[in-house]
Amino acid sequence: MTPPDIDANAFHEFELDGWQHASDDYHRYFGSLTMQTIGPLLDAVAAAGGASLLDIASGPGYVAAEAKRRGWAPVGIDFSEAMVAMARKLHPGIEFQIGDAEALNFEDAAFDRAVMNFGILHLAQPDAAVREAHRVLRAGGAFGFTAWAKPDEALGFRIALRALEDFGDPGVQLPPGPPFFRFSDREECARVLASCGFGDVTVRQFPLVWKLASPADLFEAFYKGSARTGGLLRAQPPAALAKVRDAIKESAAAYQRGDHLEIPMPALVVSARKA
Ligand SMILES: C[S@@+](CC[C@H](N)C(=O)[O-])C[C@H]1O[C@@H](n2cnc3c(N)ncnc32)[C@H](O)[C@@H]1O
Repeated sequence: MTPPDIDANAFHEFELDGWQHASDDYHRYFGSLTMQTIGPLLDAVAAAGGASLLDIASGPGYVAAEAKRRGWAPVGIDFSEAMVAMARKLHPGIEFQIGDAEALNFEDAAFDRAVMNFGILHLAQPDAAVREAHRVLRAGGAFGFTAWAKPDEALGFRIALRALEDFGDPGVQLPPGPPFFRFSDREECARVLASCGFGDVTVRQFPLVWKLASPADLFEAFYKGSARTGGLLRAQPPAALAKVRDAIKESAAAYQRGDHLEIPMPALVVSARKA
């Protein structure tokens, strides 16, 4: 259920606008990071028999592309036309559709597997999306998703959020959405999956590392390539933004390793089965 203080439509529109503008820079800055969970995510939903897979919130189509390499039959859906256009360009042999994770345009029991790589934390109504994933899976099918660990471990977020807390304009308000780190909590993942009808829940954490060319790139990545953290940055007045940018750059410099940065960004890989 959507918490009463969240206007699901307003948050949905805010996210959609963010992703429509962020597709190129998301691919540029986040692609090599979010690709690191694809192997564990696909391994976690490796259902016996059958190989159709729905890649929900597919973005540039990374997961669908790896599924195809494994010989599976993927379809990707994303609500952003810009993301779908990029996915079609990058992976011309794969079907990508425009669609909403919270109201999937597929028949019941249409897929053997469904996955959502770093999509769940962007949804206005994540529980509705998990119910939809359950609906479109056949009995025995598997669903998997990924989410960032909390910011005390996923340090790119800690750096950006601290800079905003210390130097951001407290008057800047975005349309409220569900807690960004809700699915960093193993018990909450298990609870939501069970409440939507799934069983056999597994949750594993993986130590992703964000390699960036320079400290300035951490700011650029969030500012240009993300919807929610980027939205908060883009809404800052110029003087506050300059301070936030400097603070992010300064903190990021501590992760310089040779000619690039290596920022720890662990993530949870969560899977479950439809009985
Ligand atoms: C962080 S990106 C993840 C992209 C990709 N799955 C990956 O592995 O990098 C989040 C994606 O979720 C999509 N998205 C957000 N809300 C959505 C919704 N309600 N329905 C479908 N896609 C959505 C965005 O357009 C964006 O492409």
